[in-house]
Amino acid sequence: MTLDEIIKSRRSIRRYLERPVEREKIVACLEAARLAPSAENAQPWRFLVIDDPGLREKVAEKAFSGIYSFCRFAARAPVLVLLLAKKDFLANRLGRLVQGTQFYLLDLGIAGEHFVLKAEELGLGTCWIGWFNIRGLRKLLKIPHRYQPVAIISVGYPASRPPGEHVRKKLEEIAWFNRIEEAGSTGLEESEKNNFSDGY
Ligand SMILES: Cc1cc2nc3c(=O)[nH]c(=O)nc-3n(C[C@H](O)[C@H](O)[C@H](O)COP(=O)(O)O)c2cc1C
Repeated sequence: MTLDEIIKSRRSIRRYLERPVEREKIVACLEAARLAPSAENAQPWRFLVIDDPGLREKVAEKAFSGIYSFCRFAARAPVLVLLLAKKDFLANRLGRLVQGTQFYLLDLGIAGEHFVLKAEELGLGTCWIGWFNIRGLRKLLKIPHRYQPVAIISVGYPASRPPGEHVRKKLEEIAWFNRIEEAGSTGLEESEKNNFSDGY
């Protein structure tokens, strides 16, 4: 698969086969994440892979109950990868204080997407999950306070893919050359007017 094919075929997968995921494939995804760029090369990402079925069940129960239960689909994923940020780097403190930018979140996003794209290349389906019970997981997994849980990526062989094309803003709404050219006077984009839903 070319990079273009991988990017175009990747969708958020919320239904998985029961088929287990090979450890080597997860390691290949972690390796792709490891090579991601980061501010000051701080590499603040840490990945806690949950692939033990008993533990995964407990994690899913804790992470996706109550107000988080709309992400319950992830309980069926054979692997859950918890993305943790190790935050005590100079770049993070400077970024926040001087620029107001949380570089560590950018870094984790880039590394996580490397993971996801590699998974796609290997025939795996993934879904980014930002809506989960962080406190509950911290307690269950005894996560030290120096690590901040940021996201979960569910991983498994896809049982189905969302129908249709990616729902995205038009290129001219999100990219400009040399000067900002918003359509209309309000700056409100077509997609914002319709307040589109992505269906999760
Ligand atoms: C940072 C982040 C957090 C997300 N959190 C959730 C989530 O909590 N639950 C969920 O079902 N999907 C979640 N998604 C998936 C998005 O809904 C999905 O990427 C978007 O609708 C576009 O669909 P596509 O991935 O199929 O192209 C998240 C995606 C990102 C990047």
